[in-house]
Amino acid sequence: MNVLHVDSSILGAHSVSRAVSAAVVSRLRETHRDANVVYRDVAAAPLPQLTGSLAATLGKSADQVPSEVAREAAALRQALGEVLAADVIVVGVPMYNFGIPSQLKTWLDALAVAGVTFRYSSAGPEGLLGSKRLVIASSQGGFYRPGTPAVAFEHQESHLRAFFAFLGLTNVQVVRADGTKVSGGDEHGLPTALREAAALQVA
Ligand SMILES: Cc1cc2nc3c(=O)[nH]c(=O)nc-3n(C[C@H](O)[C@H](O)[C@H](O)COP(=O)(O)O)c2cc1C
Repeated sequence: MNVLHVDSSILGAHSVSRAVSAAVVSRLRETHRDANVVYRDVAAAPLPQLTGSLAATLGKSADQVPSEVAREAAALRQALGEVLAADVIVVGVPMYNFGIPSQLKTWLDALAVAGVTFRYSSAGPEGLLGSKRLVIASSQGGFYRPGTPAVAFEHQESHLRAFFAFLGLTNVQVVRADGTKVSGGDEHGLPTALREAAALQVA
C-alpha cells in the first residue's frame, strides 16, 4: 500500500496537525505492514505558485515545457506523480484564517490537471481519483462542527473535501483536533485526535 503523507503547518515541531498526521501514518504502518510511505512537507519546501506560463505546462510532458519554467514545472509534476502513485493520502492541515495554509493551496494547484486527475465528458467534469482514500488530519483553534455558531466560517476541511470530490475521491476520513486555542483545548483537542488516530481503520 502506497501512502502519501503531506504536512502543511508553519509551526514546525510545535504543530498540532503534524502530531495528528504522524499518528495517523503510524496507525497505517501498524495496520498495513506493507505500507510504503512518501513524505512531503509543503511548508518546509513550498511548491512554486502557479503563474500563467507555469499553468500552461500542467499536463504537458517535460519535452513540451519551455526551459524558463522547466524547474518549476518539474516540481509540480513530481507532486502530482506522488498523488497518482498513492493509495492513501494523509494530509496534515491546520485552519489558518478560516481556510487551508496557502502552501497547501499551491499543492492543490499542482493536482487539478485535466486529462490526468479529472476529465470533461458530455456529462460534465469527471474525477479520476476514485480508487484512492484521503485522511484529513485537521487542527482548528476554535470549533466549527455542524451545529456550532461558527460553522459557516469553516473553509478548511470543506475545501479539501470539495477539491478531492471534484477529482473523484470521496472516500474521506477526518481526524480532528479542534478547540486548540480555546481555554482547556490543550487538554482535549489533541489527546482526543490522537486517540482517534490510534483506533483508525482505513479500509
Ligand atoms: C496564521 C494563523 C491563523 C489562524 N487562523 C485561525 C482561524 O481562522 N480559526 C481558528 O479557529 N484558528 C486559527 N488559528 C489557530 C490554529 O488553527 C490552531 O492553533 C491549530 O491548532 C494550528 O495547527 P498547527 O499547530 O498544526 O499549525 C490560526 C493560527 C495561525 C498560526
